[in-house]
Amino acid sequence: MMDWTDRHCRVFHRLMTRRARLYTEMLTTGAILHGDRARLLGFDCTEHPVALQLGGSEPGELATAAKIGEAFGYDEINLNVGCPSDRVKDGRFGACLMAEPALVARGVEAMKRAVGIPVTVKCRIGIDEQDPEIALDELARGVVAAGADALIVHARKAWLNGLSPKENRDIPPLDYDRVYRLKAAMPGVPVIINGGIASLAEAKAHLAHVDGVMLGRAAYQEPWRLLSTDPEIFGEGAPHAGMKDVFAAMTPYIESELARGTRLHSMTRHFVGAFHGVPGARAFRRYLAENGVRPGAGVNVLHDAIALVEARAPAPIAA
Ligand SMILES: Cc1cc2nc3c(=O)[nH]c(=O)nc-3n(C[C@H](O)[C@H](O)[C@H](O)COP(=O)(O)O)c2cc1C
Repeated sequence: MMDWTDRHCRVFHRLMTRRARLYTEMLTTGAILHGDRARLLGFDCTEHPVALQLGGSEPGELATAAKIGEAFGYDEINLNVGCPSDRVKDGRFGACLMAEPALVARGVEAMKRAVGIPVTVKCRIGIDEQDPEIALDELARGVVAAGADALIVHARKAWLNGLSPKENRDIPPLDYDRVYRLKAAMPGVPVIINGGIASLAEAKAHLAHVDGVMLGRAAYQEPWRLLSTDPEIFGEGAPHAGMKDVFAAMTPYIESELARGTRLHSMTRHFVGAFHGVPGARAFRRYLAENGVRPGAGVNVLHDAIALVEARAPAPIAA
């Protein structure tokens, strides 16, 4: 999620679930081809399975960027056909590509030829005046024929004329049934649903209709939910009993990043929602906000903040 997630966030999330697949924020082909690749694409080996999301439309550039991503060790290449921001619209990628299914299919075909790892597409159900019954089918059939290994569908339209990117994540109505119908029409294709899914209980209900569920804001803003993912969704034990154990496990990573010159706040900014309904959660947030940003702040700031949270914070029950 652009401006929100990064590799530090993914390391944190991975400590709460071994099984959920993590995705990078969208990186444009232009940035990957011409930018500082080590900074943009580098990630920690603990993050697997992790997918690289690309923004772009020119098939040759997508293929080259996908190849670079594969060489970095990503487990999947995902193409963004859902982001509605103006910046993205001008560059001819993201949600506006819902109107160009043939071009998207050529991009997928080029990436499939270039890499051996799965290539997937994340899209909307349609844009603007499009009829989602037609637009989603056209896009899906085209990319599947081109070799796409799975589809992730944000179950609402993007309205490119008139709504801001933020409004486009909430205002166009959700239509989960449209995604279920896509799965029914293409039973052999893995379909993952996304959009407005607020809890693991909701995620489980969707799994009766589709193959997977992607959480965006709920996972970022309420990361404590991730601790229940492996038990609730995959029937396996959680990697850690509670959030304090997660932070204990994260400490060596934080220390090594600090030693490399990473600022504490770059990591602790992802921890704001870590504790939920636990006495001391507010004090934890406030302490981190006030002290984590100070130049030279060390891991002791995090530990002092954690000490403000009740001794053994119980693992959340209703995730
Ligand atoms: C700050 C922010 C940044 C986002 N950046 C991306 C992105 O880079 N790539 C992407 O596919 N979706 C991005 N999204 C959209 C989310 O992945 C997701 O599709 C959307 O928020 C709906 O799902 P949710 O209700 O679970 O959050 C972003 C959302 C937010 C709030």
